[in-house]
Amino acid sequence: MPLDIVIGTQWGDEGKGRAVDLLAQDSHLVARYNGGDNAGHTVTVADKIYKLHVIPTGVIHPQTICILGNGMVVNPYTVIEEMDMLRSAGIEINPDRLMISDAAQLITPGHRLLDRAQDAALGKNQIGTTGRGIGPAYVDKAARSGLRVGEILDRQSFADRLRAHFIEINKLLTILYSQPEIDVELYTSDYLEKAEMIRPYIKRIGPEIQAALKVGKIVLAEGAQGSLLDLEQGSYPFVTSSCTTAAGIFSGLGIGIQAVRKVIGVTKAFQTRVGSGPFPTEQTAEIAEFLRGSGSKPWDEFGTTTGRPRRVGWLDLVLLKYAQEINGITELFLTKLDILSGLEQIQVCVAYEKQGRRLDTLDFSCDAQSLAQCVPVYESLPGWQEDLSRCRRWRDLPVNARVYVETLEQKTGVPIRTISVGSERTATIYRE
Ligand code: GDP
Ligand code: IMO
Ligand code: MG
Repeated sequence: MPLDIVIGTQWGDEGKGRAVDLLAQDSHLVARYNGGDNAGHTVTVADKIYKLHVIPTGVIHPQTICILGNGMVVNPYTVIEEMDMLRSAGIEINPDRLMISDAAQLITPGHRLLDRAQDAALGKNQIGTTGRGIGPAYVDKAARSGLRVGEILDRQSFADRLRAHFIEINKLLTILYSQPEIDVELYTSDYLEKAEMIRPYIKRIGPEIQAALKVGKIVLAEGAQGSLLDLEQGSYPFVTSSCTTAAGIFSGLGIGIQAVRKVIGVTKAFQTRVGSGPFPTEQTAEIAEFLRGSGSKPWDEFGTTTGRPRRVGWLDLVLLKYAQEINGITELFLTKLDILSGLEQIQVCVAYEKQGRRLDTLDFSCDAQSLAQCVPVYESLPGWQEDLSRCRRWRDLPVNARVYVETLEQKTGVPIRTISVGSERTATIYRE
């Protein structure tokens, strides 16, 4: 029953798409289980760059079946845009290989408007959401008033439910947030048209996944966001509204825990974050510009979904150890090691100082308030000057790059089995 799980260990954008693309080569089924089009997963194959927000990254491999799980919030507009983009890139999309769970929740343009209005109303306490309607859609789910994908199948009753939803959104927008009203009939008819386009892809996904696991086919779960954005375990309230950790897979896809074979934690060689919230190792001066890049290269640290410059800093091993614990990570996939080339010294946060005490691991909940009181304790490691982008074997790496990787392994106790040294698929080093 081989279920492999790809999880971001930081605040998202670790390179999960990059990792999934490699792992999907041997997978039968690739499934997203949480979040929606707040995600932005990039895959580079030769000179082609694919940016996916909602369809699993594994779709690029022709043999995969791709599933949007019941734990997701799905915006049909984005699904349709992505299907078009993939088809124009020559990728086959049909209901035999792309399936959307009938139990997933729908995101509407009303949710998006509400998301933006709510975040703006927080003023200086803004979360800095992606504005994709994620929070409001999950709120409706928890309130048991959400629209489920399967409702699309009964057009008449769905039209009534949609109308009622937009009327409700109007109340919230106008009364609470002084926003203009939306045209309920226009929004309803446009949404119905889009919903019709995804109708052939709606399915009960459980049997599909169970059948694959039973015959020993590899199922790959593609996490979105990162562990520190998890609604339960992340830097609350500066988090997303879903379960981003490995735990989310079981309810987000409807499978049992026995199936797990590997939990692969994707970790960037430094730390980034988009939006607000504590970031103990954040850097703002020259080093930030060095790590972020100017924006001229596709992999520079600017958001795939929003284009916002990402906040950047040194790798935080206290948080990495925490991510490892809450996910049960069995191996790490280290990305962007190439970006560190050219530094004299590289800092790694090995502990925190909090209220006069040194902490090697978190001994408090990872909420924003507690995390904001932590001052990083750094260990300095020697850098390297060589360009790593052509390294393909462990021994090709300069000695200090190897020391960096080995230090991370030693301090976390988790093997780093894969290292990427470029955005392109082949710029990968596999270790025994
Ligand atoms: P995700 O959300 O976790 O899938 O990550 P994103 O796709 O949002 O951001 C990761 C960015 O880094 C993308 O532009 C990738 O193409 C790029 N990337 C991934 N691994 C590497 C690497 O090892 N080196 C370089 N230079 N870029 C990488
Ligand atoms: P991938 O899958 C990085 C962040 C937002 C914001 C917070 C809440 O590409 O790693 P939301 O719109 O989810 O309500 O925003 O979460 N965020 C991400 N940051 N990568 C992502 O996805 C993110 N998805 C959400 O910036 O701080
Ligand atoms: Mg991303």
